[in-house]
Amino acid sequence: MNIQGKHYRTVWLKENEPGIVQIIDQRFLPFELVIEDLSSVADTAVAIKEMHARGAGLIGALAGFGMYQAAVESAHLPAADFMSAVEKDGEYLKSTRPTAVNLEWAVRRVVSAMQAAGADVSAIVAIAKQTALDIADEDADYCRRIGEHGVELIAEISRRKNGAPVNILTHCNAGWLAFVDYGTATAPIYAAFERGIPVHVWVDETRPRNQGARLTAWELGQHGVPHTVIADNTGGHLMQHQMVDFVITGADRVTYTGDAANKIGTYLKALAAKDNNIPFYVALPSSTFDWVMTDGVNQIPVEERESEEVRFIEGVEDNVVHKVRLTPENSPAANFGFDVTPSRLISGLITERGICAASDEGVLALYPEKRQTK
Ligand code: MRU
Repeated sequence: MNIQGKHYRTVWLKENEPGIVQIIDQRFLPFELVIEDLSSVADTAVAIKEMHARGAGLIGALAGFGMYQAAVESAHLPAADFMSAVEKDGEYLKSTRPTAVNLEWAVRRVVSAMQAAGADVSAIVAIAKQTALDIADEDADYCRRIGEHGVELIAEISRRKNGAPVNILTHCNAGWLAFVDYGTATAPIYAAFERGIPVHVWVDETRPRNQGARLTAWELGQHGVPHTVIADNTGGHLMQHQMVDFVITGADRVTYTGDAANKIGTYLKALAAKDNNIPFYVALPSSTFDWVMTDGVNQIPVEERESEEVRFIEGVEDNVVHKVRLTPENSPAANFGFDVTPSRLISGLITERGICAASDEGVLALYPEKRQTK
């Protein structure tokens, strides 16, 4: 998507410098556009863990590139040791963030491709690189297709409203910054905007890291999409007063039975949407499905992060970024990163293959090849 009119992806390989991965360092947004070079698999692991890059699709794609870096770094080892060294790096990458399933999916995909590539180490490294590039391209393409399917839901509401702006509420950042391009929750919004359907987006600020206020607002602004940032607890009030027509969020892991883990606070929005009869959709690429778990609330691991993220807040004044404490000095804080919205609260899932019910029948009808694994 565009930054000041120039097209960017969120992750790419540096030209002519094998093994160097470049990302937009999201810690500096919206204040500054910083491109970071990740020179090793260790750098990449830190970038994921410390959220220089974040969002389910992006950390999956970045882990894919991390596996390529692991292959480059271990290429000097005797053939017998090469694969086990790379797999150890894969385990380390997977451990950096537990909730988004895309991370383990991408590591597994690169490892499988490498295992199938024969015994020649340089051929295996080439396969690792190509698989990482494929994962990134596929992520962008799937998000674009999610936009094509999801825009029909917005178009239908727009028709019902006789062309008055469709008010869409979203939580966190499931925009292009959370993927390689387009995003999931935002893809239908961008598609509607491009079609000339009037839309307005309510952007939850998304405490504690404020991905909504900092990232979603910034990317919508770069594209000229009308939006308003709201404090996290505002959505229920807006819904009671007919100021929200449609809720769309992304997800970090969705069980094939339709339970969706997403940024903390999503569940409360889904409850409020249900109570007010407002459609609540979750948009995701198939890399975000968990094909094993059946009970999201009890099985999906929820990341707990540093309490400092709750106790402190960052902002800018006179072009200088400041971090200030919000709480009494000695008050402890808890920082659960995600919650799980049960399938019964979800109107539908928007995937690259189309829209389905949030249920095993709905999901498996779109992905029949997964039936054999059940
Ligand atoms: O902790 P983050 O910023 O990596 O959170 C993940 C998310 O981006 C959100 O939960 C998002 O809505 C999911 S879609 C990638």
